[in-house]
Amino acid sequence: MLIRDSSQLVFFLGKGGVGKTTLSLAYALKFSEVKGGRTLIASLDPAHNLGNFLGMSLGGAPSRIQEGLYAVEIDFEEALRDSLINQIEKLKGLYKELTVWNLEKNLEILRWVPGSEEQALLKEIERIVEEDWSRVIFDMPPTGLALRVILLPKLMQFWLERLEALRERILSLRETIESIRGTRGQKDSVIEALREQKNKYRRLIEILENRENSYFFVVLEPSAVSLDESRKISKSLEENRIALKALLLNKFRKYDERDLRILQQARDSFSVPLFVLPFVGRESKGEERVFEELAPLIPEGIL
Ligand SMILES: Nc1ncnc2c1ncn2[C@@H]1O[C@H](COP(=O)(O)OP(=O)(O)OP(=O)(O)O)[C@@H](O)[C@H]1O
Ligand SMILES: [Mg+2]
Repeated sequence: MLIRDSSQLVFFLGKGGVGKTTLSLAYALKFSEVKGGRTLIASLDPAHNLGNFLGMSLGGAPSRIQEGLYAVEIDFEEALRDSLINQIEKLKGLYKELTVWNLEKNLEILRWVPGSEEQALLKEIERIVEEDWSRVIFDMPPTGLALRVILLPKLMQFWLERLEALRERILSLRETIESIRGTRGQKDSVIEALREQKNKYRRLIEILENRENSYFFVVLEPSAVSLDESRKISKSLEENRIALKALLLNKFRKYDERDLRILQQARDSFSVPLFVLPFVGRESKGEERVFEELAPLIPEGIL
């Protein structure tokens, strides 16, 4: 069953240069033409090139590509700044003494805190999920960052559960003291904030783990390195209960022995469906328009 009020999501993962942006665009085009509705393609790659492929300049507000199809390039620096400021505000609300630290003045340093980029990108996904799209196709950054963003809700839930348990222990000790003193207990804003965060991540996990809500594709090209990386991505997703929808072997040359060998190895390595997309010549249209040639070849079964 679809999760209420959530857009359906599609993620393209894979090694650098295998064709994530190209296939995200091809998929978005095909989806929009076959299924209709409001479709968004969103680049989460800090090094955007979605706009270049489309031949237009994109920003954080949806630009219309054609009837029903829109595109955005998330402004990474802005997302990072907003996310940090948002976290500082939350912390200051809970711990008044933090105001003396003047955290806002140190954004340039805080942005390097591990997890900041992932947190910022996840926040953007969360925001887009709640918007009114039939389908959102994410053109993801290279593997490492992409996986860390997708798996962040699980990690956060793990920590929040432990922090909540710790806070509960503190509160129960406090209650004991208060009952001895005869003072009444007050609502604890820290535990409320922890629970609110935990619920937020739980909803995201539900959306990402729901096979009807979220489709994950791994794109690979016919090379041993790309095949190897695809196995690692698939394993990480599996370990985190995220189902892979299909494997897309891109840039395939059917008369090339190496390509045929990799195809066989890919078939042997994965239990999910595998689709092959051909290497298309660039003579006629130029490399940016490769996606237009590939769009009709996207199988309808994965839309
Ligand atoms: N099926 C194909 N046939 C021919 N060229 C292709 C095909 N798919 C992608 N390309 C070309 O390969 C290059 C890399 O594609 P693309 O930018 O889509 O990959 P990417 O995985 O998004 O890369 P990055 O990790 O840098 O974002 C581009 O020049 C693109 O035109
Ligand atoms: Mg790309």
